Amino acid sequence: MLPRRHDYGMKRTGGPRNGSVINFRTTVNSGSVRRSSAVLPSVLTFLVIVASGGLLLMIEKGMLNSMETPPPMGSGKRLDFIRRVGKHSPAAVDVDSQILQEIRNRTIRTRKTLLQHILVNDQYHFLYCYVPKVACSNWKRVLKVLNGALESVDVNIKMDHRSDLQFLSSFKPEEIRHRLKHYFKFMFVREPMERLLSAYRNKFGEIESYQKKYGVEIVKRYRKGRAKDASVTGDDVTFAEFVHYLLDEDAERMNEHWMPVYNLCQPCAVSYDFIGSYEHLESDSEFVLQRIGAPPHVRFPERQTWYKPVTTETLHYYLCTLPQKLLRELLPKYILDFSLYAYPLPNTTTENCRH
Ligand SMILES: *[C@@H]1O[C@H](CO)[C@@H](O)[C@H](O)[C@H]1NC(C)=O
Ligand SMILES: *[C@@H]1O[C@H](CO)[C@@H](O)[C@H](O)[C@H]1NC(C)=O
Repeated sequence: MLPRRHDYGMKRTGGPRNGSVINFRTTVNSGSVRRSSAVLPSVLTFLVIVASGGLLLMIEKGMLNSMETPPPMGSGKRLDFIRRVGKHSPAAVDVDSQILQEIRNRTIRTRKTLLQHILVNDQYHFLYCYVPKVACSNWKRVLKVLNGALESVDVNIKMDHRSDLQFLSSFKPEEIRHRLKHYFKFMFVREPMERLLSAYRNKFGEIESYQKKYGVEIVKRYRKGRAKDASVTGDDVTFAEFVHYLLDEDAERMNEHWMPVYNLCQPCAVSYDFIGSYEHLESDSEFVLQRIGAPPHVRFPERQTWYKPVTTETLHYYLCTLPQKLLRELLPKYILDFSLYAYPLPNTTTENCRH
């Protein structure tokens, strides 16, 4: 049994500091290091990591208080250190500004991702950070019923993921600050591998645009002898190939359907009042609807009849048949989604996989 998510209230006891440590690790694990190392010597790569660790502390503290990009010159000591080290090289100034620009770019990108994933309801004073593959279509339906754009949650229409929804990114900085401070903030999470598998089966099994946009490239990159094959359609990507692809992707730039929840909703920058789980979807949704004071006729929708949920058995099968080396490399990428939301790591020991 998984522990109830609301026991892990996101009270901000020492939040920002923890956040920076966490983010620091993300930096180490994510592709940004790999990208930099192509450009900078390894000592400087290390310094970028140290510097971005310190700066991220500032950024996280400051990012939602002041929606201006924080000046990247503030964390005195560490940057001085970079400067002193760099002084002997003629390219020092260039390297300096390149590092600073990369940090600045990263801050902007991260903030954009967050604001584009938070939906606003001003009448009931709440913010909902949506995570694709975690009942987000159903929550969007609820939001549309609450703002009058949809008559009932059961209206049989295809979900439009943009229209009639208000994104936090469309507000002015002071309006954003006000809402983040005073509104009820919630999000929903799901077992990370189950979410990935659900994304894989849905996008590569059913959606042609994803097969074309991602599938073709994945097959060409990871299937032997197909790099230049023009007949690749991308409709038969295997789960192992998909995982291969995820390993090479930067978590901060991934498609939202497989971007870690940590990067989408950034619980270290936003102090959520409630984190519900897919495992307790019904009761957790009921709790949120009561908490925001939704009228009694607004219910959380039943699961759509066409929806094929990922079962424990299916997940077990996919994880056990995946080359274990790939799984071991994949877990660190999603480790914050496991640890922050208290999901145990998958058990793929030979013993357990035999069942
Ligand atoms: C930062 O972003 C700008 C504008 O998008 C881009 O031109 C520049 O190359 C980026 N710099 C780094 C170091 O990534
Ligand atoms: C994994 O599963 C096996 C068999 O079910 C069990 O004996 C073992 O203790 C489990 N390992 C962990 C780390 O939970």
